[in-house]
Amino acid sequence: MLSSVVLAATVTATVALPVLVSSIIRRRRIIERISLIPHDKERVVIIGASSGIGLELARIYAHRHAHLVIVARREELLEQLVQELGTIAGSIHAVQGDITAPEDVRRITIESLGALRGGIDTLIICAGVISVLPFEELAGINCTTANRTLSSDNAEYTHLIPANPQAALEASIKIMNVNYHAPLNLTSHFLPALIQTSSAGNIIVVSSMAGKIGAPTRSIYCASKHAAQGFFDALGMEVERTGVHVGIVSPGTVDTDLRQSAVDLPKSEAYDLSSSSSAQANTSRSELKRIAGTKKGAMTAHACAEGIVRASDYRQHDAVMPWFYQMSLILNLISPPLVRWLAKKKYGYL
Ligand SMILES: NC(=O)c1ccc[n+]([C@@H]2O[C@H](COP(=O)([O-])OP(=O)(O)OC[C@H]3O[C@@H](n4cnc5c(N)ncnc54)[C@H](OP(=O)(O)O)[C@@H]3O)[C@@H](O)[C@H]2O)c1
Ligand SMILES: *[C@@H]1O[C@H](CO)[C@@H](O)[C@H](O)[C@H]1NC(C)=O
Ligand SMILES: *[C@@H]1O[C@H](CO)[C@@H](O)[C@H](O)[C@H]1NC(C)=O
Ligand SMILES: *[C@@H]1O[C@H](CO)[C@@H](O)[C@H](O)[C@H]1NC(C)=O
Repeated sequence: MLSSVVLAATVTATVALPVLVSSIIRRRRIIERISLIPHDKERVVIIGASSGIGLELARIYAHRHAHLVIVARREELLEQLVQELGTIAGSIHAVQGDITAPEDVRRITIESLGALRGGIDTLIICAGVISVLPFEELAGINCTTANRTLSSDNAEYTHLIPANPQAALEASIKIMNVNYHAPLNLTSHFLPALIQTSSAGNIIVVSSMAGKIGAPTRSIYCASKHAAQGFFDALGMEVERTGVHVGIVSPGTVDTDLRQSAVDLPKSEAYDLSSSSSAQANTSRSELKRIAGTKKGAMTAHACAEGIVRASDYRQHDAVMPWFYQMSLILNLISPPLVRWLAKKKYGYL
């Protein structure tokens, strides 16, 4: 009898209380932002808006009549979007740029602020690239185990050195530059304007479930998203007192062409997927199928974008979508082996 009372008290203290406290804190934030920034006054910069999730974000904000700046490298896609949304949005401007190019970040910032007449309320960093190869394949590591017990008679042990360690390092630097260093650089450039020109500035970063839990064939992608998660978690606490909110959104699999941006596939393989004729494209497609991990149950880019907008409106610090992926985070605390098993299953590593 007594022990069940103690149990009930413990469960209440560890589960109900934190849930209650966080819901009280969250409710205060909702009321604040919506009353301070009406949808048709919101000044939004979307980084990575030429395709996928970022493009859907632009559509949603345009339909709310926000003032928009859309940023990406592929200018013709941005111009198409300006055409599509020009009469719907409060205003919309395209700024072409590569967020990893040293000359571009400063120019993107100045041009964006110019288009928004000097002020910004919401910066959404959605640009990102992926990786799709198992690490040993990327680095050219020989995984043959057949002769494990025979001692080697090669005095220089060169056969034990990987064929391509440089490729692994280069791919890692590339992915870190887009998914971590560029968001950091954009943040430092936009932060002064967010602090000084908005009554409730938001920085929203699109991370991934890969920023929370590792998955096979995604090692360097997971590393870059984990880095972003740590950085923006800490930054959020620092800048809160300035009135700026930092939110991280972690979607599961979304149905976009993200895989074509893979930093660890040769460009030709990565980008020729749509042409069905060439032998190259056929290898690429089977290659991608092999490396992909299933897209089954993927959410649409639109649904994902809706979740991101909600996370921004409600100033959520850490949003996971679809919602049931939250379960995998809880599960990962209770039973890590089960989550590892699920991740391996998803990517064909059982
Ligand atoms: N798809 C998924 O399953 C999934 C799941 C979880 C998280 N995410 C995250 O969601 C975000 C958006 O991905 P997506 O699925 O929508 O893929 P996507 O269609 O490939 O979109 C990526 C966007 O980033 C831009 N971008 C990439 N590198 C850039 C650079 N150096 N400079 C400027 N812009 C750059 C691209 O534009 P340009 O090529 O025109 O520059 C494009 O607009 C990424 O951060 C991704 O990690 C995706
Ligand atoms: C960050 O932006 C500045 C421009 O203000 C540039 O000098 C620097 O090289 C950029 N860093 C990266 C890693 O892009
Ligand atoms: C991998 O190692 C095995 C066993 O040591 C060897 O027979 C094989 O030739 C190696 N393969 C490559 C591609 O180096
Ligand atoms: C293992 O070693 C034996 C004897 O040296 C050799 O005949 C055989 O080809 C090797 N197997 C592999 C997979 O390298």
